[in-house]
Amino acid sequence: MLKFQTAGESHGQGLVAILSGLPAGLRIDFDSIDRDLKRRMGGYGRGGRMKIESDTAQFLSGVRHGQTIGSPLAVLIENRDWANWKEAMAVEDRPESRAKYKPLSTPRPGHADLAGSLKFNFRDARYVLERASARETAARVAVGAIARLLLRELGIEVASHVLAVGRVSLPAGSIPFEAVLALKNNDEIVLNCVDREIEQKMKAEVDLATQNRDTVGGVFEVRARGVPPGLGSCAQWDEKLDGQLAQAVMSIQAVKAVEIGAGVENSARFGSEVQDEIGYDREELCFTRKSNRAGGLEGGISNGEEIAVRGFLKPISTLRRPLQSVSFETREPVKAAYERSDVCVVPAAGVAGEAMVGFVLARALLEKFGGDSLEETRRNYTSYLEQVKRF
Ligand SMILES: Cc1cc2nc3c(=O)[nH]c(=O)nc-3n(C[C@H](O)[C@H](O)[C@H](O)COP(=O)(O)O)c2cc1C
Repeated sequence: MLKFQTAGESHGQGLVAILSGLPAGLRIDFDSIDRDLKRRMGGYGRGGRMKIESDTAQFLSGVRHGQTIGSPLAVLIENRDWANWKEAMAVEDRPESRAKYKPLSTPRPGHADLAGSLKFNFRDARYVLERASARETAARVAVGAIARLLLRELGIEVASHVLAVGRVSLPAGSIPFEAVLALKNNDEIVLNCVDREIEQKMKAEVDLATQNRDTVGGVFEVRARGVPPGLGSCAQWDEKLDGQLAQAVMSIQAVKAVEIGAGVENSARFGSEVQDEIGYDREELCFTRKSNRAGGLEGGISNGEEIAVRGFLKPISTLRRPLQSVSFETREPVKAAYERSDVCVVPAAGVAGEAMVGFVLARALLEKFGGDSLEETRRNYTSYLEQVKRF
């Protein structure tokens, strides 16, 4: 079973991810992983920290001479800012440097500060926010980039783009996969929108939020092309691939709703307008669809069409014009804390979305096709595709 865990605090020494269950013999493209880490740091409306960070993934285990060997991969991403946080985030107890602990006792509405402090019983939300922070998505992006190397070996590509920033959105309609994929070639991520004119309007929305010392959310979409029919299952609730994708995307910090295909819009239409009619191509020997409103998933199973998952982000909760809160110490009303923060993170969340979708698809794929070596996985996969063709 493909699985991963991450560890590390936002201003700690670094982030660690352990990924196990990958078959042996997968070539690791180190550059592609660092490229994704860089894409996660980009985007218009990011805070000052992104200028400090320049993430790279260091492999501590599981890879030899550029390929996986079937043992767990341990990946380290060092925090470049560690030197400035050594005292505040020291592992050892150093009473003499208490003045540098940077406590946060005025919880920010919308962040994990209050709920987490009550849960872990700390009157300093620093203990909680350091882990709740989306810095953790850097580790997920590294894992997702590795998972996507496996998918690529089997002809599956995953890409993301931004559908909306605040009140500005792309008009409804299908965006070709190639246009989404092409965004990855851009040196700078800006707002990762396929339409340059709309992207300018999105930038203006971010500017407005910045001027007002406010923040803005939005919507990203992750698409996966080349996914075979038959991943996931209708047999048990937790085997349903749409449910697994929804959980994975919802787990990204600030994502508050997930949509598969045109799920939200479909709920207000008649059935005849929503279902994707089925045809058959006698030359290619495959079933076809005229539309893909289902987002490639029916009955919790991939149906061979493109997978489309959307993540809806709330605006970031750390505000330069802070909202009302209460002090942990005095219980008096105070303004919530502010520390260096982003204004808009929708494209970066999309990169994290690619990682999570990539991971879930790779896990579903390995669950179905198994294989301790890539050769074995590929053989099982090819044989299944032949079975589907002969159906
Ligand atoms: C890429 C990314 C960057 C983020 N950066 C910030 C930030 O700078 N400041 C902030 O308050 N929240 C930021 N967030 C959101 C918080 O991490 C998130 O709102 C918080 O952990 C509470 O979790 P929840 O919103 O999922 O309930 C970011 C989210 C993502 C996906």
